[in-house]
Amino acid sequence: MNTPQSDLRTTPYTNPAVPIPERVEDLLGRMTLEEKVGQMLQLDARGDLEDLVLGKLVGSLLHASPERIVEARKLVLTTRLQIPLLMADDCIHGHSFWPGATIFPTQLGMASTWDPALVERGARATAVEVASTGLHWTFSPVLCISRDLRWGRVNETFGEDPHLIGALGKAMIRGYQGNGLTDTTAILATAKHFAGYSETQGGRDASEADISRRKLRSWFLPPFQEAVEAGCRTFMLGYQAIDGVPITANKWLLNDVLKGEWGFTGTLVTDWDNVGRMVWEQKVCEDDVHAATVAVEAGNDLVMTTPQFFEGAQEAVNRGDLDESLIDDAVRRLLTLKFELGLFENPRIPDADQQAKVIGSADHAAVNLEMARRSLVLLTNDGTLPLDGGLVPSDTDRAAATGTPRTIAVIGPNADDPHAQLGDWAGASGQINWLPDGHPRHLTSTVLDGFRATVPEEWTVTHARGAEIGQLVPDPAGPTYADGQPRPPMFVAAGTNEAMLEEAVDTARNADYVVAVIGDTVALAGETKSTATLELQGGQIELIERLIATAVPVVVVLVQSKPSVLPQSVLDAAAIIEAFNPGMKGGQAVAELVLGLIEPTGRLPISFARHAGQLPVYYNQIRGQHGDRYADLSQEPLFAFGEGLSYTTVDYTDLRILAETITEDDWVEAKVTLTNTGTRPALETMQVYVADTVTSVTWAERELKSFVQVQVAAGESVEVDLSIAARSCSLVDQDGQRKVEPGDFELLVGRHSRDPLMLNSRFRIAC
Ligand code: NOJ
Repeated sequence: MNTPQSDLRTTPYTNPAVPIPERVEDLLGRMTLEEKVGQMLQLDARGDLEDLVLGKLVGSLLHASPERIVEARKLVLTTRLQIPLLMADDCIHGHSFWPGATIFPTQLGMASTWDPALVERGARATAVEVASTGLHWTFSPVLCISRDLRWGRVNETFGEDPHLIGALGKAMIRGYQGNGLTDTTAILATAKHFAGYSETQGGRDASEADISRRKLRSWFLPPFQEAVEAGCRTFMLGYQAIDGVPITANKWLLNDVLKGEWGFTGTLVTDWDNVGRMVWEQKVCEDDVHAATVAVEAGNDLVMTTPQFFEGAQEAVNRGDLDESLIDDAVRRLLTLKFELGLFENPRIPDADQQAKVIGSADHAAVNLEMARRSLVLLTNDGTLPLDGGLVPSDTDRAAATGTPRTIAVIGPNADDPHAQLGDWAGASGQINWLPDGHPRHLTSTVLDGFRATVPEEWTVTHARGAEIGQLVPDPAGPTYADGQPRPPMFVAAGTNEAMLEEAVDTARNADYVVAVIGDTVALAGETKSTATLELQGGQIELIERLIATAVPVVVVLVQSKPSVLPQSVLDAAAIIEAFNPGMKGGQAVAELVLGLIEPTGRLPISFARHAGQLPVYYNQIRGQHGDRYADLSQEPLFAFGEGLSYTTVDYTDLRILAETITEDDWVEAKVTLTNTGTRPALETMQVYVADTVTSVTWAERELKSFVQVQVAAGESVEVDLSIAARSCSLVDQDGQRKVEPGDFELLVGRHSRDPLMLNSRFRIAC
């Protein structure tokens, strides 16, 4: 049906009083094949907008600068059917590319808080900021499991454990999607990258995932299933193939599992040019017509950045290779989403007044500061921290501080680097071109800024950079591969710089304490940035060795995107603080922690390897191998999942299971007593693991099933209740079936995954 623009006001699809299914059918019935295929396209807004909106008739755009969002809307109003665009972007840990938006710690940093409620508040703040700028959709959260630390995208994940990932993922989805699609402060969340994408070979990004269905169902799928249960409206598919089938074409995963078993009714978006890649990269399709057919038949709705899908899909229908009704199904799902969002009535274009109120607001900054504080993980401490036994809170009245005035030398390449601190997907991290210098500098408190702003007035803060890390340079093999695809730049480590080292050593010698801020850079984090090694790069190892040799106490702060392999000199430091890209407030939080104004409460969501050759070192490995060490090295990680110190000590005693025998439908209920045996308050993350003593198939030695955060005042005891669904004490058998096997289990309650003092009690699940 050819609808002239002037008649639009009288059509059922433009009438909000008409039920959505009828509006969808009315609109679908008016669309040409060309318009329908265009709806299925999500293209890069940095291209020629007129061509995208008027030529390719796109249904969605990504990476639109603030101005282009407005421009695109104007163009839509000149189209025949005026179907609103879905505007999407990677608002990964904050509104990544909006100047001055609140940038939180990366997902790995957020995961170190082990606090779903806080993560939800962070996501809510992000949604409110993002929604004010005319975007409807963020490509977040990442629910991939990080197992190979060489992978460049570890920073984007919640770490290594499916239970923790599931809990934090659900929280983030709730935060983004707010009160549902009609909430104008809500944005669509995306569970990505479905599924198994992180199971790389050798850490190489998007390599074929060598993963069985049992392994998928055991560890990789559960967080995604929880995302469906949490109402996540969109899923993004991984780049990779499993068993030779690209995820884009994987009917078993998309139709049987996601839509069938789990009942997902939302929208599927491919990852970047997944459809094109089936032709030029994976070479499983002979041309774009074939690739379009395969993608539509597998149930994809939106095709990201494969412009040739436009011609390919039309040609596939015209040739009779592709049933047009499958295109109708995808468009139906997309239009339903647009109607449910109310975009036909309110296209949610940028709202300058709302932006002025919410972007980078004081409320959001407060959530961000809390997130940064809670994300820091104290890994070692010989008692040097907090410095001088800690300032008391009244010392925040900086003039009133007592005690000996101190000099703190804040040294290192990441001491004053806002980009390393914000990490990937923020400002100048490389994905977009409109923020070449990143976010306004004054919004980020680097560690140096943090100390300058926080120490008592009569204290002195000095600084030296000490070393460089390295930089990206064009690959000498040329800017493109033989097939014309871009060849990513490569990382070249900096050499040591004697003059910088000497300045750093001098600065250290004249100080009472050194805070050495080292780690990695955005050049080593993200897509195309996987690393073969995990060592600290550039002049950093030599810098730390020289600083330690001064005998001034050195506190190492690791501002990095993922766990690196730490040299002995770092382990010899007085203390080590992990600060995974801690966001705009990270520097302030680090200073507060070192000075003892706050307590260390973060726990590792991921294990640290001693050597890249030990990988993988995740804690929940499957039992059964000869021995437990290499001939030349331990298999033990340097720091394990769940570890993190406090400025106090908490004893666990008196674990009591309420009913030792239960059925599959019951809950394991228990009580445990936590006692703060130190002098400072604790926010203790009590971790609850379960071990199935004998299993019909090999299984993990222990698995995290629950965690509870408990405030325990100095000298006090708290009795904590815990409960775990017996149904969660399950395994996946050889046929990929998840089931509970009746028998004996151990309930393990402690501080972290390898706590030698873990409390242990048996329970039985009866038939
Ligand atoms: C590719 C990345 O893999 C994905 O995570 C991201 O959301 C898209 N590009 C869009 O930028």
